[in-house]
Amino acid sequence: MLKKIAELEEKASREIEEAKNMEEIKALKVRYFGKKGALTALLRRMGELAPEQRPLAGKKAHDLRNKLEELLDRKEEKLREAALAARWEEERIDVTLPGAPFNLGRKHPLTMVLEEITGIFTGLGFQVARGPEIESDYYNFEALNIPPDHPARDMQDSFYFSPKILLRTHTSPVQIRTMELQAPRLPVRIIVPGKVYRRDDDATHSPMFHQVEGLAVDRGVTFADLKGTLLLFAREMFDQGQRIRLRPSFFPFTEPSAEVDIACIICRGEGCRVCGQSGWLEILGCGMVHPRVLEVSGYDPEDVTGFAFGMGVERIAMLKYGIDDLRLLFSNDLRFLRQFR
Ligand code: FA5
Ligand code: MG
Repeated sequence: MLKKIAELEEKASREIEEAKNMEEIKALKVRYFGKKGALTALLRRMGELAPEQRPLAGKKAHDLRNKLEELLDRKEEKLREAALAARWEEERIDVTLPGAPFNLGRKHPLTMVLEEITGIFTGLGFQVARGPEIESDYYNFEALNIPPDHPARDMQDSFYFSPKILLRTHTSPVQIRTMELQAPRLPVRIIVPGKVYRRDDDATHSPMFHQVEGLAVDRGVTFADLKGTLLLFAREMFDQGQRIRLRPSFFPFTEPSAEVDIACIICRGEGCRVCGQSGWLEILGCGMVHPRVLEVSGYDPEDVTGFAFGMGVERIAMLKYGIDDLRLLFSNDLRFLRQFR
């Protein structure tokens, strides 16, 4: 019996030592400690021994059981640590490797200019209003005092969906839409940033471009208010010494009307491709709101007056950043766009 115990000890110790994973450990436990296990069988056979042999053999067998249990525990612990170490190795990262470069986007120069224009006017108490880009003939032309055969339509040739539905050629229809909603409450003081469309295409004219409309209606609004507002805008937008020029002009929806030029920043007034050799660049049209326009929108022209203006945002961006071809703004060339912060 003692010899058998010694043999078992030798064999079991070696097998535990050589176990390569938890499955093998499990199998060993069954083999030695299970119901039909070798150690279990040995313990059961103690009864067959002569009484004087039992104490010693019994003690040896119990010692063996304790020893094997401890060996198994230690081996299990070792295997667990090894598995963890292997996982650490596998998931190891080199924190000193250079990172993947992350491309930060930035605002398009037109967005920046639109935000700056909007900021100047909201600072003066104007509210932002918007209207649809697909517009009806009524709002785009008729309500603005441009009847179907009026020659002013030639200058704003558009893209038509049907005879009565078109892409708006300017932001002025939002004047009518806003006044219709608000009448007869005073004052009206809005700006309208947005996209407009025309059949144009050259270095200073794009088929899609942006305008910011302005409209102020109240009792006692004068042309001086208009001029003061636009001069303040030009000085905030460009520099405090900026010069502007008002030229008499014609719009069916304003009377009197003017176009406002800004001294060309690119050639400083000497004449270049952008200003058409004139030294000045037209940035907007404006005037006092025509009595007929006030009337169709629900205001009494005997009681209130108003001024309105509509500026070209691309032109202002060109002046502000010294861009000599408007089409660069829409070519999506990153070498161009990355210059603006
Ligand atoms: C108008 O569109 C009038 N609605 C402006 C207005 C509003 C007058 C309120 C009176 C009262 P005009 O067609 O001139 O006007 O255009 C206004 C500005 O848009 C121009 O001064 C110019 O800066 C810009 N613009 C016109 N056509 C183009 C184009 N194809 N590409 C880029 N900018 C343009
Ligand atoms: Mg014009």
